[in-house]
Amino acid sequence: METISEWIRQLPKAELHLHLEGTITPPTLVELSMLGNARPMTLTEAQTLYAYEDFTGFLQAFKTVVTELRGPAEYELAAWRMLQGLAAQGVCHAEVYISVGVIFRLRPEEDKSNPDLFPDIFAALERARLRGERELGVTLSWIFDAVRHFTVEEAARVFRLAAAMRSAYPSIVGIGLGGDERKTGSEPFRALYEEAAAAGLRLTNHAGETTGPEAIREALEIGSERLGHVLSAGDDPMLLQELLLRQVPLELNPSSNVKTGVCPSLEAHPLRRYFDAGLMVTLNSDDPAFFGATVADEYRLAHEVHGFSRAELRQLAENSFRSSFLPEAEKQAWIDRIGSVAGA
Ligand code: HPA
Ligand code: ZN
Repeated sequence: METISEWIRQLPKAELHLHLEGTITPPTLVELSMLGNARPMTLTEAQTLYAYEDFTGFLQAFKTVVTELRGPAEYELAAWRMLQGLAAQGVCHAEVYISVGVIFRLRPEEDKSNPDLFPDIFAALERARLRGERELGVTLSWIFDAVRHFTVEEAARVFRLAAAMRSAYPSIVGIGLGGDERKTGSEPFRALYEEAAAAGLRLTNHAGETTGPEAIREALEIGSERLGHVLSAGDDPMLLQELLLRQVPLELNPSSNVKTGVCPSLEAHPLRRYFDAGLMVTLNSDDPAFFGATVADEYRLAHEVHGFSRAELRQLAENSFRSSFLPEAEKQAWIDRIGSVAGA
C-alpha cells in the first residue's frame, strides 16, 4: 500500500494562493545571488533573511527577499524553480501572485529611468511559464498583487497595468491585495476592483488573516470573488451562512497562519470546521519557503491533524479546480480526472 504522501502526490491538484516570491528557498536565493553578483551569498546568509517573529516581521522578510530579485534573469530562474517544485508535488495548475506593488515600491528611480523594467521582468516570467507547460505539464496563470498598506494610487498602477497587459498576455487572469489588513481594509479599493472586473480581470483578496469578520464582509462587498485566509469567519455565523450559500471559494493557508502567529496551532485552524459546514474550501501554501510546508504537505497535514480521509482530500482537490479561474471545460476535465483516482 502506498503511503499517504505518495497518494497525495498523484492526486491532481491546483494551487490558488501562492506568492512567487514566497516560493524562493534559501538555496535558490544563493543561486540567484550568483547571477551577475560580485559576491554571491552563502547559504547561512540567505537563511538569516527568512527569520521573523510575527506577521509584521514576516511582511518585512518577504520584502527583503524580493529585493534580491534584481531583474528578468532572477525572476525567470525563481519562476522555473517554483514550477519544478509544483511538478514534484503533483500540482497541475497554479494561479500565482506576483508582488508587482513591491517591485514598483522598491525601485522607483530605476523604474522611472527604465520604462521597460517591468515588461522585461514579465517577459522572463512568461518564458518560465511556457517552459513549465511544455516540459513539466504544469499550467500557470498570473495574479498581479498590490500591497494594501501602500497607497491606493500604487494599487491603481498595479491593477491598470494588469488590465493593459491582459490582451497581449491572457495568462494574466486577475488581481489581488496582500499586505497588512490591520492598516487598510478593502473599502478604499472598491472603485479599482470595479474597474478591474470591467476590464475582464478576476478578483481575489486577502481577508480576515489578521483582522475580524468585518474585514471579510468588506472584501465581499467590493466584489472579491475569492478570499485568502478567511481565518476569522467563524466569529460571525451570519457571514459563515453567506459564504456557504454563495459557495465563495476560500483559499485557506493553515501552516502560514500558524507560522505568522495569527492562529495558535494547526489543531485550532478552522479548516475542518469550514469543510464540515460545506464551505468551498481549498488548501494552499501561501509562501512555502517561509512557512516550511508545500501544498502537498498541507494535504498531508489535513490528513494527519484533522483526520481528512482520502475521499475528503479528493474533495479538496476537486474544490481547487472548481475554485480556479480556468475555463469551465478545463475545470471539468480535471475534476473528471480526479474522479478516476483510486483509493477513496
Ligand atoms: N498576507 C499578506 N501579505 C502577504 C502574504 C500574505 O499571506 N504573503 C505575501 N504577502
Ligand atoms: Zn498570501
